[in-house]
Amino acid sequence: ANIFCTERYLKVSVPPFLFEAVLYAPIDETNSTAKIGNGIVFFTLYKKEVAMWESLTVANVNKEELQHLRENAVLRAHEKAKEETEAKKVTKQEHKKYALEATMKLEEAERRRIEGLKEQERQKVTKELELWRSQQNDVEKQKRVQNEGELHGEVEQLKEKKREKMNKTRIPSQEISKTKLKDTKGRGSYSIFSENLKEEQLPAPRSAGTIKINFTSRVFPTALRESRVAEEEEWLQKQAEARRIMSADLSELEDLKEEEKNPDWLKDKGNKMFATGNYLAAVNAYNLAVRLNNKLPLLYLNRAACHLKLRNLHKAIEDSSKALELLTPPVPDNENARVKAYVRRGTAFCQLELYAEGLQDYEAALKIDPKNKTIKKDAEKIRHTIQGTVQNS
Ligand SMILES: *[C@@H]1O[C@H](CO)[C@@H](O)[C@H](O)[C@H]1NC(C)=O
Ligand SMILES: *[C@@H]1O[C@H](CO)[C@@H](O)[C@H](O)[C@H]1NC(C)=O
Ligand SMILES: *[C@@H]1O[C@H](CO)[C@@H](O)[C@H](O)[C@H]1NC(C)=O
Ligand SMILES: *[C@@H]1O[C@H](CO)[C@@H](O)[C@H](O)[C@H]1NC(C)=O
Repeated sequence: ANIFCTERYLKVSVPPFLFEAVLYAPIDETNSTAKIGNGIVFFTLYKKEVAMWESLTVANVNKEELQHLRENAVLRAHEKAKEETEAKKVTKQEHKKYALEATMKLEEAERRRIEGLKEQERQKVTKELELWRSQQNDVEKQKRVQNEGELHGEVEQLKEKKREKMNKTRIPSQEISKTKLKDTKGRGSYSIFSENLKEEQLPAPRSAGTIKINFTSRVFPTALRESRVAEEEEWLQKQAEARRIMSADLSELEDLKEEEKNPDWLKDKGNKMFATGNYLAAVNAYNLAVRLNNKLPLLYLNRAACHLKLRNLHKAIEDSSKALELLTPPVPDNENARVKAYVRRGTAFCQLELYAEGLQDYEAALKIDPKNKTIKKDAEKIRHTIQGTVQNS
């Protein structure tokens, strides 16, 4: 159904039916309703002015007048629709504006809250700083007062001694005035001293000065008095030289990648292989590294560990010995490595049932690191084994 209604004109079209009425007086069209159902249209119309209508519709409307009314009604309806959309637009804008303002207000409040927090924090820190400063000042002041007091006391004493001496030597008859002065100043302790020090030469006040201390530079973490500098230097030099050695003329190694020509890189690779339990691959990496540089003790030491795992016991002994040979002179810097080398060789000896040699190495390790309980225990075990073997045989 299509319902059209203005102040004076009412139209309902439900094709093929059409109802049309020109009302007697204006109605309030925004408030009025029309309900359609069961073939009936039910209008509720509110009059604009409270008055008695003679009839619902105007009687005797001619065609022209009706046409005019219709056109007018349509025009007014259009205008009304336009006004309504405009009004809607305005309210929409107002709502938007309101929402924006509300958001801004909220944001402003939040901003102020944060600023307030910041300010509080800043004031707190400033207060703490000031407190610390004033404490610091107090401490310094106290110190200064103490110092000044001491200094002042000393100077005063000296001055008085001087004065007294002068008075005494010059005017011996003024003993009485001196006693008076003592009483007024109330320096009992001073007067005792002054009696004894009367004739002493007065030393000049001590002057302030700066003492510069140089420390000997140290490569090793131990104290200088505990170390053998010459040996340490030798060890360092040897290490540095060993790094420089590179068997560059290995033509067969030419097709290696650049990193593979680096013994350190190979050593790391070997260590990783060892860690994953791939001892053969680790040995290969160390082998290559040793071929590139045969002066680095750690390569032999690590390879010895691999050989122990692979039960290449003779090779383990050989590598440990080579490592020990390169780990000279014995200095704190290579202590750890030496302990490991002895323990590895000792282990290999024991696994070959050469217990005496094994024990010797364990004892050597223990001598370097007497606190290591593991080594101590193992050495004890070997001793027992030796005793057992002796008893059995
Ligand atoms: C709608 O009709 C009621 C009932 O008569 C009236 O009280 C009210 O004022 C009317 N509202 C408008 C907006 O004309
Ligand atoms: C030394 O003599 C002078 C002059 O008589 C006097 O003013 C001063 O107090 C005396 N000082 C002492 C320590 O007796
Ligand atoms: C301390 O070191 C500085 C700078 O290294 C040097 O000029 C000075 O001579 C040294 N002093 C002593 C006492 O060794
Ligand atoms: C003791 O020595 C063994 C073998 O060298 C080593 O694995 C271990 O870490 C050492 N323990 C301590 C506490 O130094």
